[in-house]
Amino acid sequence: MSTIRFANGDEMPLLGLGTWKSKPGEVYEAVKLALEMGYRHLDCAPIYGNEREVGQAVAEAIAAGVLTREELWITSKLWNNAHAPEDVLPALERTLQDLQTPYLDLWLIHWPVAFKPEVVFPETPDGFLSLEAQPLGATWKGMEVVLKAGLARHIGVSNMSPTKLRAIAASATHPPEMNQVERHPYLAQPELVACARELGCHLTAYSPLGSPDRPPGLKAADEPVLLEDPAVVAIAQQRGGSPAQVLLAWSLQRGIAAIPKSVNATRLRQNLDACALQLSPEDLGALDQLDRHRRYVSGDLWAMPGAPYNLASLWDEPAG
Ligand code: A2P
Repeated sequence: MSTIRFANGDEMPLLGLGTWKSKPGEVYEAVKLALEMGYRHLDCAPIYGNEREVGQAVAEAIAAGVLTREELWITSKLWNNAHAPEDVLPALERTLQDLQTPYLDLWLIHWPVAFKPEVVFPETPDGFLSLEAQPLGATWKGMEVVLKAGLARHIGVSNMSPTKLRAIAASATHPPEMNQVERHPYLAQPELVACARELGCHLTAYSPLGSPDRPPGLKAADEPVLLEDPAVVAIAQQRGGSPAQVLLAWSLQRGIAAIPKSVNATRLRQNLDACALQLSPEDLGALDQLDRHRRYVSGDLWAMPGAPYNLASLWDEPAG
């Protein structure tokens, strides 16, 4: 499988398995199956509520000789209530314990949003801390400590705008090596892609299929269904692939990692096989034309009235 090569020579498989929305009770089987099929990159986070099960599946696969730990790339993320520099290491240690691994390949700041340490998910505005009170630059110093300790081999960020990525990189000793963001043909983010390239930061696309299984509360009534877009469906028919494979190949062929979530054997296989689908330059161009700056993960959970965040400040772009 094609990989992203980091400055130290480490390689991350371009296609990974997403685990957001994979329910406890389902994710164990999905991870075991995926590893047996040949997946070698798992994307995790403590807030997904399933890292223990993922860890159990990984440990059993390693014990059974399916793969070695060194052959697997594991990413996880720092939750919003552990942004104080002194909380970064303990948060990572909990994730390492749950995932049953001595180190992570990649550890990301999950959101440019901070909560009070005792708050897992704010229900009122006073659960938040502003970025003035808890600056991202200070959190990044905590990330650099775990890198130095060898507990995370690479460090990066997630959901960061070009403005925030530049600011963190400018004050860092070790700039972010990855920004994991929502990205698919409806949200191509050319400015962010250019900025990341300029800074030598790699990108991973989350929700590459348009995240159709988000909880109803996170869905807009009128939202377009990416997997059913006529242009995507037409290219899939021409190339003998599925719409999901077309969406994934659009990312992979340009060296941007993608982490589709599935808990279904047929779709896990299909997504892995997207690595072999070849899109023509015309196909890629037609998919680029679909861009409408449509976020499926809007961030409005953090834009509670009275909280120190709104959509304009979250994404550093006009809201709407
Ligand atoms: P399932 O887990 O039942 O396979 P995203 O990665 O953008 O968040 O999308 C995940 C959603 O897309 C899930 O509902 C998942 O369902 C579905 N999905 C995953 N792979 C495919 C595929 N190859 N074709 C259609 N739907 C898919």
